[in-house]
Amino acid sequence: MNGWISVRVAERREEAEGIVGLVLAPLPGASLPPYEPGAHIDLKMPNGMIRQYSLCGQVGDTMVYELGILLETAGRGGSRQVHEEVKVGDVLEISAPRNLFALVPGEPALLFAGGIGITPIIAMADHLARSGTPYALHYCARTHARIAFRERIAHSHAPHHVHYHFDDVPQTRLDMARVLAEAEPQAHLYACGPAGFMDFVIGAARAAGWPEARLHVEHFSAPEVQDPGDAFEIEIAGTGQIVPVASGQSAATALAEAGIEVPLSCEQGICGTCLTTVLAGVPDHRDMYLSAAEQAANDCFTPCCSRARTPRLVIEI
Ligand code: FES
Repeated sequence: MNGWISVRVAERREEAEGIVGLVLAPLPGASLPPYEPGAHIDLKMPNGMIRQYSLCGQVGDTMVYELGILLETAGRGGSRQVHEEVKVGDVLEISAPRNLFALVPGEPALLFAGGIGITPIIAMADHLARSGTPYALHYCARTHARIAFRERIAHSHAPHHVHYHFDDVPQTRLDMARVLAEAEPQAHLYACGPAGFMDFVIGAARAAGWPEARLHVEHFSAPEVQDPGDAFEIEIAGTGQIVPVASGQSAATALAEAGIEVPLSCEQGICGTCLTTVLAGVPDHRDMYLSAAEQAANDCFTPCCSRARTPRLVIEI
């Protein structure tokens, strides 16, 4: 990706059990692009790995970005690098903010955070509180020790706006049916958290008849797609080389086997590192990176996970 922004780690703190908070500042004389609640950035790790993290600081602050990073022991090492190696004074590279999880302005909001999913949600809650928009925050965590931003929440949000739910305290169980029934009319629902949590929250809302237009989600990883997809061909514009992609094989893998390397990072349609221009044919978009409008334009696709709806895609490498 072009346009990386160098930032300095101005502060590092233990936000909660297993969660490190990083405060990133621009280099001297620079500032950071503004962003809206729900936005995320790509963070390039010291070893070159790229990971996406939501911005959880104060929206409008162009001198500081804040991140909350959970140590994911089963992950591929991105969060471990941050937890074990990143220290105050380090210079890291980040992308400009990107927002696929924006608030609908002025509409009441029902916010659901599961674990580290609090990071975009806290920025949304702060914004809603400041703008006087009706909202409720439901924060689910395994234990009290894993709650991040506790002081900030207590300071910025009246207690009746905030509801904690702990796995180890049965009486705090999240009663989705009741919460949904008591929501403001026309409220929009925003959820961020692990896959099981998202399925639970969104499934309950759909079962209660909430329309899709009022459901907004931020994924940590792309949902698993069972359909291996049909075989298709990729034509390389300029050379005319044809690369067959078998059913169940990723386009990126097929290209690599044909000697055409596409840069990869997340390999699950989240980061956009592999984004490739499409000149002809219709992609079968399976990523979580492009917005609905960008997918509909059909002029690019993510070969790490996306496929083709037409027998051939012509791409520009
Ligand atoms: S490698 Fe991240 S979207 Fe393809």
